[in-house]
Amino acid sequence: MNDLARSHHDAPLDDLSLAAVAGQGLALRRVDDADAAQVAAWLDAVSRGFLDGERNETQHRAFFDLLGYRRKLGVYDEDAPHPETPSATFASWAAELTVPGGTVPTCAITSVTVAPTHRRRGLLRSLMTGELRTAASLGLPVATLTVSESGIYGRFGFGPAAHATSWTIASRRATWTGPIAPGRVDFVSREHARTLVEALHERIRRTSPGEVDMPGGHWDRFLGTRPDAEKADQRRVLQYRSPAGEVDGLVLYSVTENEHDYSESTLDVALLMAATDEAYAGLWRFLLSMDLIGTVRAGELSTDEPLWWMIADQRAARIAVRDHHYVRILDVPAALRARRFGAPGLVALEVADALGLAEGRWLLRADADGTGHVTAWEGAAPAGAITARLGVAELSAAYLGGVSLATLARAGRVETTDADALARVFGWSRAPRLSYWY
Ligand SMILES: CC(C)(COP(=O)(O)OP(=O)(O)OC[C@H]1O[C@@H](n2cnc3c(N)ncnc32)[C@H](O)[C@@H]1OP(=O)(O)O)[C@@H](O)C(=O)NCCC(=O)NCCS
Repeated sequence: MNDLARSHHDAPLDDLSLAAVAGQGLALRRVDDADAAQVAAWLDAVSRGFLDGERNETQHRAFFDLLGYRRKLGVYDEDAPHPETPSATFASWAAELTVPGGTVPTCAITSVTVAPTHRRRGLLRSLMTGELRTAASLGLPVATLTVSESGIYGRFGFGPAAHATSWTIASRRATWTGPIAPGRVDFVSREHARTLVEALHERIRRTSPGEVDMPGGHWDRFLGTRPDAEKADQRRVLQYRSPAGEVDGLVLYSVTENEHDYSESTLDVALLMAATDEAYAGLWRFLLSMDLIGTVRAGELSTDEPLWWMIADQRAARIAVRDHHYVRILDVPAALRARRFGAPGLVALEVADALGLAEGRWLLRADADGTGHVTAWEGAAPAGAITARLGVAELSAAYLGGVSLATLARAGRVETTDADALARVFGWSRAPRLSYWY
């Protein structure tokens, strides 16, 4: 854990949140990561909150061993029959988010649940607003999360910044027209892939806006190499190795047989990682040409995949888009300085924020090399500046370049003097992506 991650993990609870929860006769506490019973009860509450079954000893143990780095909050009800099981949960950790041309520290939020017995009395609001204040006070410029439902987090200033596409490809119909990669594709064991996956992700994530680094047991969960993994034996792994001998790509998949017609089985890609264009082409071509597979499905791809331009029949792919990775800017100058911009320009931003964290007037000067300089402004907007009035959720949605600010202006969500110029400044060449949930 670096210093920021440690101070975030150990930070005291927010006074306003403590008071609001206490006002309901409940107690807000941090979970002691060294106390296995406390951690197990907290995990049970998360599981119940997400409509999952009871956790067993193996799952408790794996969670205890692997996820101590997460700051875990619980709301406890001493009058409940099982007061050790929290009525609300919330977790976060200091991670690194890739943004256009750089990275920025983020408060990554997860495990947000309120028990059905305690819903809609403001517990999420108390936890979220307090934890955002804490993150901001520690100097984390943004917060991020993935969501179970779209309607929850906009009110807290989050905007959907990296969309995900789910693909269903009729693989025989697709017909590969992309490059023939020069390397080789081989099966490797899940255990062998585990030795490669973290380094590969580190190579990939820094050039892919929207990705975050993932500590703990994340990769073991994907690869089924942790004791609590389910259906691990169903997963297969292929690697792509370049002619120079470097493993530049991995794909993890499982197959569902079609018992009525074995030649029409379905292959589900759990994760395809490619550090080079050749690895991307090599792995996708391999998947689309496998015998007995009629359908290839993949999720959490970006909205602008090269794959679509590597098949002769684009209608062989049915693509569904949804909101996926949400961003909430907490510190406008720090967040804007961390990214590069698509075109030079002077933008006078007026940002509204119901929580007051990112509210203000900020002057962004984007240089020709994409660097952003940010200062505060008052009074009249500087001559020659594009002005833009928008909420923090809109600025956050556009932060990774995943939606054009011209589109948000047309949607009535941004007021600006020049939507096209504004969109060029904030635009980016690559659609953001987050390749998993957290
Ligand atoms: C989503 C959840 C955490 C909300 O908790 P809660 O304590 O009931 O929420 P609050 O009472 O603090 O509500 C805060 C605001 O969010 C709104 N809200 C809460 N849940 C909502 C939902 N699912 N959809 C839309 N709005 C929601 C409330 O109406 C309230 O609105 P207001 O500010 O206009 O008054 C809870 O319903 C839950 O645990 N759901 C199942 C697990 C889940 O989906 N968690 C989210 C994971 S990303």
